[in-house]
Amino acid sequence: MRHTPVLLTETLNLLRPTRGEHFIDATLGAGGHAQAILDRTAPDGTLLGLDRDPHALSQTTHELARFSARATFVHGSFDQLESIATKHGFASVDGILFDLGLSSMLVADPTRGFSFQSDGPLDMRFDPTEDTPTAADLVNTLSAAQLRSMLRTYGEEPHAERIANAIVQQRKKQKLSTTRHLLLTVLAGSRARGPRHHHPATRTFQALRIAVNRELEQLEAALPQAVALLAPGGRLAVVSFHSLEDRIVKQFFKRESKGCLCPPEFPVCTCGHRASIALLTTHALTPSREEQRQNPRSRSAKLRGITKRTPAL
Ligand SMILES: C[S@@+](CC[C@H](N)C(=O)[O-])C[C@H]1O[C@@H](n2cnc3c(N)ncnc32)[C@H](O)[C@@H]1O
Repeated sequence: MRHTPVLLTETLNLLRPTRGEHFIDATLGAGGHAQAILDRTAPDGTLLGLDRDPHALSQTTHELARFSARATFVHGSFDQLESIATKHGFASVDGILFDLGLSSMLVADPTRGFSFQSDGPLDMRFDPTEDTPTAADLVNTLSAAQLRSMLRTYGEEPHAERIANAIVQQRKKQKLSTTRHLLLTVLAGSRARGPRHHHPATRTFQALRIAVNRELEQLEAALPQAVALLAPGGRLAVVSFHSLEDRIVKQFFKRESKGCLCPPEFPVCTCGHRASIALLTTHALTPSREEQRQNPRSRSAKLRGITKRTPAL
C-alpha cells in the first residue's frame, strides 16, 4: 500500500458499507479506503472514486483494476461533486467519504513541491494540469500584508509578520522558485523555533498549500453537495487534518442537524430551516495511540460523520 489509510476501522464503522450499496470516495488517493468499501459492498456494490491529482488517479485506477466493473474513477475536484456524480450515475448514494489533505505519495514526490524535507519546484497544486497560480506565483507576487494574512489565516503562524517580511526581502534579491529556497527564507525570518512538535516551516507550507488549492473554499462548496447526493439513511464521513478544516465540517454538520435557526427571541420561526441530517459523532473521533504510533501522519486526524434524515412529508 503506497498510503496507509487513516482511521480506517472507525470510518468503516460510520459508513457501514454493505453488499450491493453505492458509494463515493471524493478523495481517492491511493485507494485504501475505496478498496475496503469495494470489498464490503461485493459482489454488486459500486464506487465512484474522485481525485484532483491526475497522477494519484492513474496509479490507483491501475491498482484497483480488478474492481473495474464496480468502480468508476474520475479526475476532478470535489467542489464539482454533484455534477460529476450525476454524470456518472451516482446521483443517489448510500455513503460518501472525504479523507482530506495530502496523500503520502504527494508528500514523497519532490517534483510536486509539497515538502520542505526535499528540494523541488515550489508548485503545490494538487492538479498540475490546471492553469492556476503555483506556490511560487503566490510568494513572488503577494504583498507583504497579503502574505502575512495568508500565513495567519491558513497557517495560524505566530511569526507571520517576520516570515512575510523575510519573503519580500528575499525575492528582491532572487525570485523564490524552490522548496529549499523558501525553507531557508522561513528559517531566516522566523528565527525562533516553531511551536512544540512543529518544524518552523510547517505552518508556512500548510498555509501556501491551502491557498494554492483553495482547500477551504472547496470543502465549503462540497459538503452541501454531498448531503444532496445521499439517499435518506445515507452516511457521510469526513476525515480532516487541521483545525480549519475540522471547524468547517463541525459547523456545517451542527447547522444542518438543527431545525429552526431563528434567534431564540423570535416568537415564531421565520427561517423555515429543517434538520436534513443527524449526527453520528457528537465529538470528533481520533486515532488510537497504536495507530498514531504505527502511522505518525494520522496524529492530527479527526473524523466526523452524519446520516441523512428521511424528509418529513
Ligand atoms: C489523504 S489522501 C486520500 C487517501 C485515501 N483515503 C487512501 O486511503 O489512500 C487525499 C487525496 O485527496 C485528493 N484531493 C485533495 N483535494 C481534493 C479535491 N478538492 N477534490 C478531489 N480530490 C482532492 C488529493 O489529491 C489526495 O490524493
